[in-house]
Amino acid sequence: MSRIREFQIKSESETVKLAAELAAELSPGDIVAMYGDLGTGKTTFCRAAIRALGVEEAVTSPTFTIVKEYEGRLPVYHFDVYRVHDEDDLFEIGYEERFFGEGVCFVEWADLIEGLLEDVEPNHLYRIRFEYAEEEEGRRIVIEYPGD
Ligand SMILES: Nc1ncnc2c1ncn2[C@@H]1O[C@H](COP(=O)(O)OP(=O)(O)O)[C@@H](O)[C@H]1O
Ligand SMILES: [Mg+2]
Repeated sequence: MSRIREFQIKSESETVKLAAELAAELSPGDIVAMYGDLGTGKTTFCRAAIRALGVEEAVTSPTFTIVKEYEGRLPVYHFDVYRVHDEDDLFEIGYEERFFGEGVCFVEWADLIEGLLEDVEPNHLYRIRFEYAEEEEGRRIVIEYPGD
């Protein structure tokens, strides 16, 4: 059973702090699969986590390129698979060497590639769900930590 924690976020800065805390525990081969509607904060969370991994260059949304790569204390791959039509598109961009390599991957819209995530070892897979909450900057973030 994997551990699940739920966070009631009140401001964007709380999202940033949570992302930095998560980044600190990531190790080679980890994949962070992210779920949630447009605007719930997936990219904001990724950007903060990638910064916390020691990347200093600008982190921009990979929506149009599917994946962007950075070098921090580990190689970092930031995927946004929103525009992927089927899983073959990911084979074409060589997702495997990133998913099963020595870096860490963040994947926005992970529900679109659920079939590929089945091949990831459960002890390397985080799932993070984002939802809007009442207040403007309010969010509910649910993190499912790796485990069997
Ligand atoms: N608590 C919060 N966490 C993350 N983003 C927030 C929060 N409150 C407001 N925002 C704003 O919501 C938007 C989230 O956009 P983005 O991170 O691109 O979402 P997604 O990648 O899920 O579409 C940004 O404009 C950000 O400034
Ligand atoms: Mg996004």
